[in-house]
Amino acid sequence: MNIVEVSTPGKLMLFGEHAVVYGKPCLVTAVDQRMRVTIERVRGAGIILEAPEVGVSGQALKLGGNDLEKVPRGAKFVAAAINNWAAKYPLATGLLITTKSEFLSEFGFGSSSAVTVGLIKGLSELWGKDMGKKELFDLAYQSVLDVQGVGSGFDLAAAIWGGTVYFKTGGTIIEPVAIKGLPLVVGYTGVKADTATLVQAVADQKAQFPDLVENIFEGIEQVVLKAKICLENGDLETTGKLMNINQGYLESLGVGTVVLAKLIYAAREAHTWGAKLSGAGGGDCMIALGADSEKIEEALDAVGGRIIKVKTGAEGVRVENKEL
Ligand code: MEV
Repeated sequence: MNIVEVSTPGKLMLFGEHAVVYGKPCLVTAVDQRMRVTIERVRGAGIILEAPEVGVSGQALKLGGNDLEKVPRGAKFVAAAINNWAAKYPLATGLLITTKSEFLSEFGFGSSSAVTVGLIKGLSELWGKDMGKKELFDLAYQSVLDVQGVGSGFDLAAAIWGGTVYFKTGGTIIEPVAIKGLPLVVGYTGVKADTATLVQAVADQKAQFPDLVENIFEGIEQVVLKAKICLENGDLETTGKLMNINQGYLESLGVGTVVLAKLIYAAREAHTWGAKLSGAGGGDCMIALGADSEKIEEALDAVGGRIIKVKTGAEGVRVENKEL
């Protein structure tokens, strides 16, 4: 039997979203809710994808050259990753690919990136190619760009390296950050955000007010640099204050919402060190940092937030099972 099972962590953006699309750095942490990708060699010449969490069942894909326009939404990242893999290492066998997630794609934990990384890692194991982390990142990043057109690739870095990572657009810098522990509370708004739409909204804002928005990005960069030092020193109180400042900048970019603000202020009133949205904004999740997690969770619960229990700094992509 030829079968490989790989798992990849989800991610949470700690600092620097949006500015990272424009070449500024960000800080991202991997979370212990994982995506599993299983690849099995089967009889026949094609590829079948089973991805029940995104409504894909029995989807036939080609061994390369898949037309991304024609592939259903839930299968696009897998199709793009196969195209890029096949362009480098020809595929010539039947495959059954199955994905299984421990988290909902609605959370904004980076399920598409996690699948892309898991798939390429799985193929490299099955084909016996010793792929370095950066090569894996580059292939996965190309695949994400093929589907989305935009994106910094920070979520891929979290999925591959794990832990907490200092990252610059396109992986020009990917540097693990040693953190002593992060008592982070995560609140889900119940609203699924569309990253591409929000990235476009910021681009529109930048086109209208180029100088103002450039100043905001530079401010966010300063926040990220200071936060990195605070996290390395275990100074969580100052890290929290920096989260509040980062949130102010994100509000200025126009990606906040009433529901996010409700959760963020509820958390702040429960004596957190700080709170901010995490990711593209427009919904998804917010994060709060404080000494008394239980109190913050109660405060978020009271205003309709859904608490998602996660541990930060989770291990990056790993092989769970391999029978060759
Ligand atoms: C989305 O989670 C974070 C953004 O910075 C987009 C990206 O970095 O690809 C808005």
